[in-house]
Amino acid sequence: MTNEQIKALIADLSIEEKAGQLLQVAGNFYDKDSLTTGALDYFKITDKELELTGSILSISGAEKLKKIQDECMAKQPHHIPQVFMLDIINGYETIYPVPMAQGASFNPDMAKKCAAMAAIEGSAAGIHVTFSPMVDLVRDARWGRVMESTGEDSYLNGVLGAAMVEGYQGDDIKSKGKMGACVKHFAAYGGAEGGRDYDTVELSERTLREEYLPAYKACIDDGVKLVMTSFNTIKHVPAAGNKWLMKKVLRDEMGFDGMLISDYGAIVEMVNHNIAKDEVQAAELSINAGVDMDMMSLCYVHGLKKLLEEGKISQEMIDEAVFRVLSLKNELGLFDNPYKDASAEDEKKYILCDEHRKLAMEAAMDSFVLLENDDKMLPLSKDESVCFVGPFVDSKKVYGSWTFPSNDDSIVSIRQGIENIGAKNVSYAQGSQFLSNNMKLKNGEILTYDDEAKEKLLKEAVDAAKSSSKAVVCIGEHAQFTGEAASRTNITIPEEQMELLRAVSEVNENVVTLVVNGRPLELAEGKKLSKAVMVVWFPGTETGNAIANVIYGNNEPGGRVPMSFPYTVGQEPCYYNRLKSGRPNNGTLEQGYVMGYIDQIDKMLYPFGYGKTYTEFEYSTVEIEEKTGEEKPVLTLDKTLTASVVITNKGQREGTETVQMYVQDLFGSVCRPVKQLRGFEKVTLAPGESKKVSFVIKEEMLRFYNIDMEYTSEAGDFKVYIGPDSETDNFAEFVI
Ligand code: BGC
Repeated sequence: MTNEQIKALIADLSIEEKAGQLLQVAGNFYDKDSLTTGALDYFKITDKELELTGSILSISGAEKLKKIQDECMAKQPHHIPQVFMLDIINGYETIYPVPMAQGASFNPDMAKKCAAMAAIEGSAAGIHVTFSPMVDLVRDARWGRVMESTGEDSYLNGVLGAAMVEGYQGDDIKSKGKMGACVKHFAAYGGAEGGRDYDTVELSERTLREEYLPAYKACIDDGVKLVMTSFNTIKHVPAAGNKWLMKKVLRDEMGFDGMLISDYGAIVEMVNHNIAKDEVQAAELSINAGVDMDMMSLCYVHGLKKLLEEGKISQEMIDEAVFRVLSLKNELGLFDNPYKDASAEDEKKYILCDEHRKLAMEAAMDSFVLLENDDKMLPLSKDESVCFVGPFVDSKKVYGSWTFPSNDDSIVSIRQGIENIGAKNVSYAQGSQFLSNNMKLKNGEILTYDDEAKEKLLKEAVDAAKSSSKAVVCIGEHAQFTGEAASRTNITIPEEQMELLRAVSEVNENVVTLVVNGRPLELAEGKKLSKAVMVVWFPGTETGNAIANVIYGNNEPGGRVPMSFPYTVGQEPCYYNRLKSGRPNNGTLEQGYVMGYIDQIDKMLYPFGYGKTYTEFEYSTVEIEEKTGEEKPVLTLDKTLTASVVITNKGQREGTETVQMYVQDLFGSVCRPVKQLRGFEKVTLAPGESKKVSFVIKEEMLRFYNIDMEYTSEAGDFKVYIGPDSETDNFAEFVI
């Protein structure tokens, strides 16, 4: 359809049909068995209203969606197709590692391939749009949803988010196997105070613009088709009704002209926020802010007609929103083929196919972060006697919290992976339950079991550890401890599992701890009790195979920490690119009257960017290549600089280093962060091999919001650091 044809169609729609096009409803109203991602009881939709809806979320399956599409189109006066949306976050049925793990990979090509794979499976199952990527900047590990983000750095989030958008959308969302992407949650949902989900976000406009917005912008510049609003307030106004944020910042400044959808129930929640007295006023706020689609609230359906009749909003405002919704459907080709790629045959062909499983395994291996490896504990040899203990040895709950269609049968457990690789001298024991007695999960379930069972499990594991030369302890977070509505005041490994680790480490001095997690955890004690520690996140379908390959040395762990691990939760929020205090401390507890705590050194246990490999790399000092004749190299608006290091593999085996480039503006009209990531490159080197790695520094990388809130760079002194993590002190100086 041409734009004129879309406009002609809109002119022919009744106000009820228009409001219907702006409503998205959960799949449960069409199929009772479909899953839900939020509450349903408040949503009292009539049959008549249901007939006019424009979009359905959280339901999939080729045959099912074709049938629903037929039925819905038949009932609609203008036979407009539905657009089906789903949270395909880390895979559809072939599950690759959670986004936090993909952040750890520092590998945009991999993120793009994974997104493309997910789009192929999801579109075969009838889905047109995925609610991904989530690029919310996360600085507080208490927030349950950090697992859905690629981490604490806006540059890394932007690069990875844009790569995912490319993977989902390709060049044309109409093409087979492609779908629309929806970047979320605009804006700054990750900044919730205290890490409490759905709570207030209190940020200065400078921090919002400089740290939180760039990753969304990177996705918008890359052509993302949809943006989702966040639940939180920005400048004390909920995002779903925040005209400044949506009209001025998102539309005018960032140039987004695609479809803006609210988060689940976020429009009606403005009544709870005490900013709208009823759903009609909530509708007024959101339509005024330019929010096109109302996900799971009836504010538009109940409010728009009334607001129009009262002259509070104009017909043009409604038509503009309907135009965006219909344009998306048009771009997806739904007016010509309302099923798009839905095909039971393709579902069989692509879902969990070998190629996708292989990619899921590579992605998982690339995301594991080796934190400790004393005495070269890892890799293991297939002949040595090793026991694998812990509740994750046989667990299939290793895929994160947004993978609805996935079933446990397709998941390779750790035990299965070890068996597949053919390690000989191994034994297994569960060792402990996931959680201590009476712990409550986010779904309200309370886990209980008796003490006798606990003693028995522990004894089995201790016996296995006594008779093995090494013990691999597989522990971590219960899957229900991460994701939406799973914020925690503790970021520990559950006590029950720590008791297992303590008991095993008493009888075996060669402990390797594998941590399954969706967030940075307190690992100081685990580090003391183990010689090797490796974080594997929630690795997905190929969990066991990926872990076996890495711990037996066929592959190396490829990840680096994408979100700093504190010593204790009391240090949260905790991130590397902070401002310098007027009373800096020296990383000890010996000084008085300095920034920090009296009971905890001001350091992170594992800082952003950190991670070991199975080999050792050496860095030369940073050189800036351009000799400008001045004391320090000079960067100008039209002249870039190139900073380089030579890295050498000093170990005995091939390895891949994630070389990171950071900049620091030494003085500014406002305080500047101690370091900011501006580039990275993964480099694979054979033993003894050296390679020069160079990064181009451009003036635009150094811009920020100055004292007058102008986005610019300022003349002065800078440092460029190149090293293995955010604490590197390897730098060269230049001026601008
Ligand atoms: C979440 C979104 C998600 C939506 C639809 C909401 O509760 O915040 O991230 O995309 O549900 O499932």
